[in-house]
Amino acid sequence: AVRKLLLLPGDGIGTEIMVEVRKLLAYMNDNLGAGFEIEEGLVGGAAHDAHGKSISEEHMKLAHDADAVLFGAVGGPKWDGVPYDVRPEAGLLRLRKEMELFANLRPAICYPALADSSSLKKDVIEGLDILIVRELTGGVYFGDPKEIIDLGNGQKRGIDTQVYDTYEIERIAGVAFELARTRGNRVTSMEKRNVMKSGVLWNEVVTATHEAKYKDVELDHMLADAGGMQLVRWPKQFDVIVCDNLFGDMLSDVAAMLTGSLGMLPSASLGAPDGKTGVRKALYEPVHGSAPDIAGKGLANPIAKIASFAMCLRYSFNMVEEADLLEKAIANVLDSGKRTADIAAPHLPTVSTSEMGDAVLDQFKAL
Ligand code: NAI
Ligand code: MG
Repeated sequence: AVRKLLLLPGDGIGTEIMVEVRKLLAYMNDNLGAGFEIEEGLVGGAAHDAHGKSISEEHMKLAHDADAVLFGAVGGPKWDGVPYDVRPEAGLLRLRKEMELFANLRPAICYPALADSSSLKKDVIEGLDILIVRELTGGVYFGDPKEIIDLGNGQKRGIDTQVYDTYEIERIAGVAFELARTRGNRVTSMEKRNVMKSGVLWNEVVTATHEAKYKDVELDHMLADAGGMQLVRWPKQFDVIVCDNLFGDMLSDVAAMLTGSLGMLPSASLGAPDGKTGVRKALYEPVHGSAPDIAGKGLANPIAKIASFAMCLRYSFNMVEEADLLEKAIANVLDSGKRTADIAAPHLPTVSTSEMGDAVLDQFKAL
């Protein structure tokens, strides 16, 4: 099979962590016949330096033509002064918007070797493996009206509007149920139907979607604030959590911190299946940014990016076995005691970005 990938390393440590993914791609092409057809593009500050935009039309087209986009990170102090609409972050927002990536997947996994280093009790997080599915293109971040009105009496009024249509809830619920089938077969939907009309509709549509197509999956509902408490109290009660854009933003950050460093956290953003091929548009990126404070020093942890590549194998190319092996390789390397600086521990060797990438590749080869 031909598998078209676009690499957009971006800025700062984005370029350093992408080097480690390229090693895996080369190995899989040369030795496993993976058939990755790889294009490269510029995004963020790198694109701005080259042609004054956060992503060019040409590279936007490459993204549309690709089966999946592997994204690094964008931004940095060098571009602090550039105009708002061509700032580095605008490139990522444009990709998400034009590719209609409405489903944001944020796993929270606790690697056994790191269970002790969390600030939480070991039994609360050991073996944790949950997935938050956040609606990414609707809700209060985008709804109209969205403005600040001058009331004329020394007062102003800030307005954001939470809007969800049936189809938007149906499609995100569908993604959550389908993913649940590949995991623990359980979905918890979170909203605030007690105080929000959009929450009432959310609850109704998720329930109806479940009745119509996914009755084999276990579904329950939770108010989002209570859900936040439960996430911290006993996160292992969850398998897949589905929620709107705002609640998902907050709950996924909470869930992320259950498991440790930013340098460990992958994410995926999925769109609708292509009419002809059935392949979903998708972009895979680490949760972290370009980390200007450590860029260029070989200190970045490449695991978030490598784990997001594993998600790409799983969700875009149905290479489930390879994805499992890659995730196992990461766990084994951590078990062996290797640590980058961000997850450093007393008495364990601290390794560089490329040493960590090489170690994961070697484990992957050996498995
Ligand atoms: P950041 O995620 O870049 O860094 C936060 C802290 O975590 C820093 O101390 C950094 O050294 C550390 N860190 C992050 N990733 C790491 C890794 N892989 N290994 C080891 N340590 C790591 O967030 P910050 O500092 O708020 O933003 C820096 C720049 O990145 C800004 O220009 C911001 O706009 C941009 N940004 C871009 C994102 C993206 O491209 N999706 C997301 C978040 C921020
Ligand atoms: Mg956030």
